[in-house]
Amino acid sequence: NWNMKNFIDDQIDLIKKQVGDKKVLLALSGGVDSSVVAALLIKAIGKQLVCVHVNHGLMRKDESESVIEVFKNQMDANLVYVDASERFLNKLENIADPEEKRKIIGAEFIRVFEEEARKLEGIDFLAQGTIYPDIVESGTKTAAIVKSHHNVGGLPEDLKFELVEPLFHLFKDEVRACGLELGLPEEMVYRQPFPGPGLGVRCLGAITKDRLEAVRESDAILREEFKIAGLNKKVWQYFTIVPDFKSVGIKNDARSFEYPVIIRAINTIDAMTASIEQIEWPVLLKITDRILNEVPNVNRVCYDLSPKPCATIEWE
Ligand code: XMP
Repeated sequence: NWNMKNFIDDQIDLIKKQVGDKKVLLALSGGVDSSVVAALLIKAIGKQLVCVHVNHGLMRKDESESVIEVFKNQMDANLVYVDASERFLNKLENIADPEEKRKIIGAEFIRVFEEEARKLEGIDFLAQGTIYPDIVESGTKTAAIVKSHHNVGGLPEDLKFELVEPLFHLFKDEVRACGLELGLPEEMVYRQPFPGPGLGVRCLGAITKDRLEAVRESDAILREEFKIAGLNKKVWQYFTIVPDFKSVGIKNDARSFEYPVIIRAINTIDAMTASIEQIEWPVLLKITDRILNEVPNVNRVCYDLSPKPCATIEWE
């Protein structure tokens, strides 16, 4: 009979048979799929798995730190942490077009990952968090977008590995159950979707450090307050956006000219259509108050009421 424990035991056997005493490489973003693959492979082959976590400088607050904490400190994984923040930000300087930003981030990600792969010796396998919907939905916008950034199919010819894809037949809820069974923290297993280009597409237009900081800090406040209000388990995706224009305000009795923060909170089944969450006013007011008091360079908070369609979930 099929249950998660048997699935894990079977996969561990299969992985051991496929890999033998060879090494396996994994791009570990900290997303649900790559995290579950990592936990499964750590259980199966321990330090034969080499996880590479690339911090592109567009991660949410404390996200890379939690990948290090969970995988290196708690699970004793072989984890290579690459802080490539400056490199990504340099490449993105003055680039305002959303699709160009995505392309640059995707290409740079592969380049950084490739460099790390070349430094490591004797790797024969590449693990990927491919799941069933990635295959059946391929061709639709969502699936194409969702995996295009982190799947490393773009590696050069001389760096081709045999693939290890243990979650191939699982649906998302099964992937989560598998993660819980493997002992991953709930926060990681129930993490909301986060685009590959990260905060890069929520810091609208050409990315600047001050606005990127404003997106990161306001997003952290939003997540904290959603958790306190119990909305983190109810709302499918919630985040903040900082546009590249300013508005006039008044702070400490003086004129201010600063950025707005836009809050977005949506529910959806498949990300193809979405409706907004009707957040209680007191929650919105508390979040607004905190953002205005705690986030530098911000003097205004707005709430996005638009469903998809006409709007998309992200702003870029
Ligand atoms: P949109 O904005 O198209 O988003 O309504 C649908 C879902 O896809 C996510 N998204 C992305 N995911 N790379 C990703 O991995 C991307 O470039 C990207 N753009 C959007 C978005 O967060 C939402 O969940």
